[in-house]
Amino acid sequence: MTTPPTTAPTPAVSMLRLLGGFQISQALYVTARAGIADRLAAGPRTVPELTEGTGLRPELLRRLLRTLAAEGVFGYDETSDGVSLGALGHTLRTDVPESVRNVALMWMETHYRPFAGLWGTLHDGIPAAEAELGMPFFDWLAKDPAGVATFSGAMGDLMRAVRADALAALELDGVRTLVDIGGADGTALAELAVRNPQLRGTVFDLPHVVAAAPGLLRGRGVEDRIAAVGGDFFTAVPSGADCYLACFILHDWNDEQAARILGRIHEAAAPGARLFLVETVLGEGTPPEIATLLDLTMMGMLHGRERTRGDWRSLLGGADFRLDRIRETGGPMCVVEATRLPRPEDGHGPTT
Ligand SMILES: C[S@@+](CC[C@H](N)C(=O)[O-])C[C@H]1O[C@@H](n2cnc3c(N)ncnc32)[C@H](O)[C@@H]1O
Repeated sequence: MTTPPTTAPTPAVSMLRLLGGFQISQALYVTARAGIADRLAAGPRTVPELTEGTGLRPELLRRLLRTLAAEGVFGYDETSDGVSLGALGHTLRTDVPESVRNVALMWMETHYRPFAGLWGTLHDGIPAAEAELGMPFFDWLAKDPAGVATFSGAMGDLMRAVRADALAALELDGVRTLVDIGGADGTALAELAVRNPQLRGTVFDLPHVVAAAPGLLRGRGVEDRIAAVGGDFFTAVPSGADCYLACFILHDWNDEQAARILGRIHEAAAPGARLFLVETVLGEGTPPEIATLLDLTMMGMLHGRERTRGDWRSLLGGADFRLDRIRETGGPMCVVEATRLPRPEDGHGPTT
């Protein structure tokens, strides 16, 4: 008896495609770094045209692009030797809202090599990046201005690609002052300030990161309402605001570290202040779930983790914040809304 042909891949073939992911990642990196998608923005080009000035070998790039054509990134026509953008290709352009080119650069230039050490991490609990770099990832990054620029660029891409929906979902009616904890170059807070003309605020991040903020804030015309302050959120954060935002921050840290950051926010925040966390919530958010992939990123690179609804409730509760609600957004991130609860040392009565 013969088995009828089927178009569905066998489990072994599906597994081989998963296992080969590291090769696809590197192939995507080569094209991202060479700016191939940008060269195709105006229309199809031949492989020799695409390699001009890149130093890439046409006969090898042709094979690489053919592989990525099978993944929907490029189109490749054997007869004309023509290459075009596939359904996913525009995301590797530099100048489009859905661009994740900087993520391609960051993941392959800083994350890829450490991930070879994941076996060790699962045994000793030390993030593979920390073992590879000899120091915590953010300490290592601080020594490399070019790396900081790539990292901030990648965060900006991720912001547009996966967090824009969450920013749009933030309800800031009645909020007068907002501090964006770990706000990087101010991209998010500038956007919020443009949308909410009543809003004043502070973007707070490590000094060498927030150094990029004043220029960006000027460019968005909000420099008179938004200040840029450098510091360490394990030591102290700007005080007195009625709303604190931590977008994609606490997932970088383990529960003890995240509780310390929340402790600094609690000390600084006005009584009854709101706290908005833009984070993934495992098992929630719009599919396909990106949280499980990010959870691996946290394991390999930092001491962080993605969290479930229950994890968020207990983390916030332990730091004297009340979890009010978790709002799903149009994208993979959620808005975790909380309120600062009073502590006896506040010296004033209950505020909520
Ligand atoms: C994953 S990024 C998120 C950036 C931004 N909120 C966003 O959503 O794109 C984490 C940020 O935390 C900042 N950060 C790390 N350690 C810090 C510290 N000790 N104090 C202040 N900021 C810190 C990093 O510089 C980085 O900008």
